[in-house]
Amino acid sequence: MKIIEVDLGDRKYPIYIGESVLSDKKLLNKNITSSQVLIITNENVAPLYLKHIEKNLDNIKHDVLILPDGESTKSLENLNLIITCLIEKKYNRTCTLIALGGGVIGDLTGFAAACYQRGVKFIQIPTTLLAQVDSSVGGKTAVNHPLGKNMIGAFYQPCAVLSDTNVLSTLPEREFSAGLAEVIKYGLIRDRKFYEWLEKNIELVMSRDSRALTYTIERSCTNKAEVVAEDEKESGIRATLNLGHTFGHSIETALSYKGWLHGEAVGCGMLMAADLSMRLDLIDQGRVDRVKALLERAKLPIKIPRGIILKDILENMKVDKKSRNGILYLILLNDIGKATITADYTQRALTETINHFLE
Ligand code: NAD
Ligand code: GLY
Repeated sequence: MKIIEVDLGDRKYPIYIGESVLSDKKLLNKNITSSQVLIITNENVAPLYLKHIEKNLDNIKHDVLILPDGESTKSLENLNLIITCLIEKKYNRTCTLIALGGGVIGDLTGFAAACYQRGVKFIQIPTTLLAQVDSSVGGKTAVNHPLGKNMIGAFYQPCAVLSDTNVLSTLPEREFSAGLAEVIKYGLIRDRKFYEWLEKNIELVMSRDSRALTYTIERSCTNKAEVVAEDEKESGIRATLNLGHTFGHSIETALSYKGWLHGEAVGCGMLMAADLSMRLDLIDQGRVDRVKALLERAKLPIKIPRGIILKDILENMKVDKKSRNGILYLILLNDIGKATITADYTQRALTETINHFLE
């Protein structure tokens, strides 16, 4: 088992990564110090892993809330449902919430923990690759508003993250590939050696070989932990974690968040960012080709879906969170393993890039 620490002073916390993390009774019980525990999960994950966790919770009294599957679960209505459950069951400030699921359950549970009685403990037990390498680490918690994704939320850190690679065995292939987009992202923005390792080993990772998976999650979380420790609230370097996200979000918005997974949009968006970097002479075509080849091997889409037009993408990009005083900053590449945050690009190059990716 590997342990990585997210170094945030008195809010520091461990990420445990390995093959049988959830079978380690001692570990689970060591991290739960409350006598009131609410496990929040969904109807997909509960039949797979809930019993296993409950069995290992020694004599800790706990309750369970099983929510519907899907992005729409990340709502104010479900936040209210969690809070109502906590009040009805007379949970006090020393309680602990456990998020058992993917990024949807993790983001919602984290925000509920941030809100309940001005903040209670929560533990992340991420069960998707995306959640294990990204959303469970770093404390971004949120629910969606009908007018926008993640519009209501808080930075609120968990007290531990327990990532068991075994749970990824039941993850559908497309969801696994979507998680790989975020993995590839760490290599591209700040870890050239890891990127080169992925170029050699992507098929092994995709076969869900346990050692390769542990290494993949460990490197991803180490990168994320370092960035978060330096810039928790995203006033600078943390924005590089959004490589490909501006293009990706604009594709997701054009698709009304239907048809593509977030990671798929991020994958295509990263290739678009690489292409724009090439048009601005920041990197050469060879590097763009390497990004394209790795994304294709990870079974991620590399073209914008048919039916979307240039105007859709350009309009949707304008509402990006990285806009400052009307200027849209983009995350681009100076090399493989080196990202830059810049507004120094031409509208012409941006248009050429988008046109290049339209079907
Ligand atoms: P998800 O939580 O919807 O999970 C994807 C699907 O896999 C769901 O159907 C889920 O029920 C299922 N599933 C989960 N674990 C499984 C398992 N082990 N076996 C079989 N099926 C399983 O989606 P996700 O991709 O994990 O997360 C996406 C969410 O994460 C979005 O809401 C996004 O905004 C958020 N996110 C947050 C951050 C952050 O920093 N907080 C970062 C990236 C994404
Ligand atoms: N997923 C991007 C971040 O946590 O900042």
